[in-house]
Amino acid sequence: MAQTFEMIMKYPAADEKLAGKALEAAAGIVREDLARFTDYFPSSNSINGFYEATENVEWTTGFWTGVLWLAYEYTKDNVFREAAQIQVESFDERIKNKIDVNHHDMGFLFSLSCVASYKLTGNERAREAALMAAENLAGRYREKGRFLQAWGNVGEASEYRLIIDCLLNLPILYWASETTGEARYAKMAENHIRTAMKCILREDDSTYHTYFIDRETGNPAYGVTHQGNRNNSAWARGQAWGIYGIALSFHYLKDESYIRLFERVTDFFLRHLPEDLIPYWDFDFDTGSTEPRDSSAAAIAVCGMLEMSKYLDKERAEKYTEAAKRILYALIEKCGNRDIAQSDGLLLHGTYARGSEENTCKNRGVDECNTWGDYFYMEALTRVVSDWKMYW
Ligand code: GLY
Repeated sequence: MAQTFEMIMKYPAADEKLAGKALEAAAGIVREDLARFTDYFPSSNSINGFYEATENVEWTTGFWTGVLWLAYEYTKDNVFREAAQIQVESFDERIKNKIDVNHHDMGFLFSLSCVASYKLTGNERAREAALMAAENLAGRYREKGRFLQAWGNVGEASEYRLIIDCLLNLPILYWASETTGEARYAKMAENHIRTAMKCILREDDSTYHTYFIDRETGNPAYGVTHQGNRNNSAWARGQAWGIYGIALSFHYLKDESYIRLFERVTDFFLRHLPEDLIPYWDFDFDTGSTEPRDSSAAAIAVCGMLEMSKYLDKERAEKYTEAAKRILYALIEKCGNRDIAQSDGLLLHGTYARGSEENTCKNRGVDECNTWGDYFYMEALTRVVSDWKMYW
């Protein structure tokens, strides 16, 4: 059954007190996790509630360093700052040695680790590492089609496509332009979001996960899913990346045309939430389904709504802030971990990938914690209790 805004408003909202308590619990778990995850990183998703320790590989390690920075900001305890700086050194090594960086996820990795370090502590080595990451991402820009190629070797025909997740990788390019004065990074980001929104937003305001571009003409070719249930369905996390991605680009560019795009993508997300406000992994599924949830999609969407509300007129700002606080309440109550004996993650009930007839994924991290869910949950709580300055 479709949700209406009035229905969402009937739920309790997370206020500063509740969010503060949840943040306190989260910081306590992060403190316990430090012994395992300072020299190593938690794996992308937990297994039976617990993360394995990994080297600095894949697209997800930056979320843990971001969690450490948020814990440092909340507690002011240097133990978190010192652990985060150790990890920043690992990111510096990673980009210098080009370890697992042949993809677009430079923002996820380096905004939350190195840009955060530079913004919070003035660490010059972190700034240099983040700039190398931005340069690496800029190398994926394709003039034919004006977009950043997500995966594979750049220019490769079978991988000539963009994906909605990339909107969260754009801020490192905007930041690079700000910090160096070189406009080219921001221009690429601006061109990318324009191309992406032209391709991925459907008439009904749902989004494609990925979209191929014709390599010869540069014209949009066709959309397919990678992690959604069907090529034409709305993958919940993809829709959430859209919400926060548009808000982040608006923060940097102040392009008024993004307001309508934001409303369309966000209203679709809100309308399709199940009764308890925690989305299933794809919006093909609704209240009563036995399919797993993706709590991380909700946390990402909350952050996006809270960010965009800073720039909207009073009525719209109130609408999205109130909706965000109600989803956050549901997350705290139903997915917030308070017991390290059951899990070392912060946000329960996420789904990394779920296999279906139309996607090629294997089940991974189904009904588990994942590091981005933990990060965006903590960012959302931080946004409610303070006037947080973004790492993005
Ligand atoms: N960016 C990859 C994912 O959301 O799973």
